[in-house]
Amino acid sequence: MLVLLVGFMGAGKTSVGGALSRRLGWSFEDLDDRIQQREGRSIPEIFAETGEAGFRRAERASLSEVLAEAAGHRIVALGGGAFIQTENRAAIEKAGATVVFLDGPVEELYRRCEQEPKVRPLRRTEEEFRQLYAQRRPDYLRATHRVDTQGKDVERVATEVACCLGFA
Ligand code: S3P
Repeated sequence: MLVLLVGFMGAGKTSVGGALSRRLGWSFEDLDDRIQQREGRSIPEIFAETGEAGFRRAERASLSEVLAEAAGHRIVALGGGAFIQTENRAAIEKAGATVVFLDGPVEELYRRCEQEPKVRPLRRTEEEFRQLYAQRRPDYLRATHRVDTQGKDVERVATEVACCLGFA
């Protein structure tokens, strides 16, 4: 079974993925890490050198690789924009992956991003962050499951994700 965690920046995809992986004993990977390894440079460098379009190409290539890999129980956290791309969603559906949307109020997502050291080229002003979130939310809602993260810690969210996957 392949489980993909999606949602906006600051939703906790990476930390929840790690907690879920420990809980279920499944492997965990962050797609952004694979992109950086394949490209041999950081996400901010990819954006600076090739723009968002270059980053999306690299993201699509890494996602295709993940989807083509032999099955097994796996959890993969996608970057906030990956599930928004129509082509990626089609490939995910074709691969039969289960997609979990980690939802939360945009104020909380912004606050979490502020507290993290991760550099996010698409996190600019709070107003732009809100606009991008509003634009993307309908696509996140196409996921198989939605888990609300508001006011919850990582372990609690991981428990809820495990529940909706059928692991009590
Ligand atoms: C992006 C989110 C980032 C990263 C890249 C683009 C986006 O991942 O993939 O900076 O388009 O929302 P996180 O969602 O883990 O921050």
